[in-house]
Amino acid sequence: MSKIIRNGTVVTATDTFAADIIIENGVISSIGTGLETPAGAEVIDASGCYVFPGGIDPHTHLDMPFGGTVTADDFESGTIAAAFGGTTTIIDFCLTSRGKPLSTAVETWHAKAEGKAVIDYGFHLMVSEITEDVLEELPDIMDEEGITSLKVFMAYKNVFQADDGTLFKTLLLAKEQGALVMVHAENGDVIDFLVEKALEEGNTDPIYHALTRPPELEGEATGRAAYLTELADSQLYVVHVTCAEAVRKIEEARRKGVRVYGETCPQYLTLDQSYLDKPNFEGAKYVWSPPLREKWNQDALWGALWNGQLQTIGSDQCSFNFKGQKELGRGDFSKIPNGGPTIEDRFTILYSEGVAKGKISLNKFVDIISTTSAKLFGLYPRKGTIAVGCDADIVIFDPHIKRTLSAGTHHMKVDYNAFEGMSVTGEPVSVLIRGEFVIRDKQFVGSPGSGQYLHRGRFPQSGKLPGKKPAANSLI
Ligand code: URP
Ligand code: ZN
Ligand code: ZN
Ligand code: ZN
Repeated sequence: MSKIIRNGTVVTATDTFAADIIIENGVISSIGTGLETPAGAEVIDASGCYVFPGGIDPHTHLDMPFGGTVTADDFESGTIAAAFGGTTTIIDFCLTSRGKPLSTAVETWHAKAEGKAVIDYGFHLMVSEITEDVLEELPDIMDEEGITSLKVFMAYKNVFQADDGTLFKTLLLAKEQGALVMVHAENGDVIDFLVEKALEEGNTDPIYHALTRPPELEGEATGRAAYLTELADSQLYVVHVTCAEAVRKIEEARRKGVRVYGETCPQYLTLDQSYLDKPNFEGAKYVWSPPLREKWNQDALWGALWNGQLQTIGSDQCSFNFKGQKELGRGDFSKIPNGGPTIEDRFTILYSEGVAKGKISLNKFVDIISTTSAKLFGLYPRKGTIAVGCDADIVIFDPHIKRTLSAGTHHMKVDYNAFEGMSVTGEPVSVLIRGEFVIRDKQFVGSPGSGQYLHRGRFPQSGKLPGKKPAANSLI
């Protein structure tokens, strides 16, 4: 059935205007004022609300084995929570294992999502080695699966960490194939040394997680990755940037014209290192890698979002229950599973802390919560904006609602909320994906399995490669 959304204020990354939107066959077919209701169309009233493109979360870990356990949220609970929060697309990290075919890993990730996801999803592919087999298989995977972003971990020694040679070869391959290389930028070798030293000295509390991963080691790894990108004439996306040191390295590279992009997360914009010092082991709830930083870094992150040195917001959703999971690290902070529940509140926190508090504009909000991720990860213009021909992924957001974030009301399947007690302004009241309601008047009305897998486009080529056709959407 077709639909018409009336009386809302439409917001894109560039414009804010009063308009009605007609949706037919899951896509936006008209935008304008005083549009006639198509015969038989359902009328949706968005009076007093913003009409945003659906949020795109480029960084999630659902149903992921990590730290001797598996994340509390899977593709069903995680995507339902995402939808409640105004997110209509996620890109999750498909983990691979050395010596095993990449296709096996991708099949495993498909099996996790199929029949469960209620929003659309794609996968990034982890690269931990560049072997003859990988070189042979990767281009086919990119073609067949539409996976056009590759993740390299510079930390988590003896678990996920890859060496600099692997990162450099991945950058070269990405340049050739039109992929975006993503890095977790921390110096894993030095962190490993500092962690062992702290434990030897009997320093076992959660706060030592932060103290053994200082910002210098994030800045150093970010700078190193940026230099390797420059040398390879490739493109790099730094995930979960937390601190001024790393922002500075990204800025330095961009000023030279190197294609380096950066993402930060709601937790780094709102929480700080002191949370790891909470008594009764509660600090474990706030263990992320890289860690929460001293509060002054938040100004650097907001500033970088505003001036364009950082371009996107990922949730880095990676939830573990406090009971039974975070508790694995009692008496040894290095055994606390890293990560937290953030998929549901990413959108509203950015609106509330960013737009409502005057740190970013309404259009910048749309840009960082949706549009630029769609562009960087090969989904634009099908996703990431409101325009004729786009998927009707739409969030009707009431900016007048005041509420308090809490585990008591969230929809993630985890026993705490990282932002417990935070007062926020605004709430997604209805969410549509390809023209169908998933959330309607704050109620879940979707169905598991209705989310579609997204084959994504390649990263736009710089044009230097003979025989390669540049992607249609050249970017930022
Ligand atoms: O602590 C975090 N960030 N956990 C998720 C895995 C990662 O490094 O992104
Ligand atoms: Zn990471
Ligand atoms: Zn992550
Ligand atoms: Zn209202």
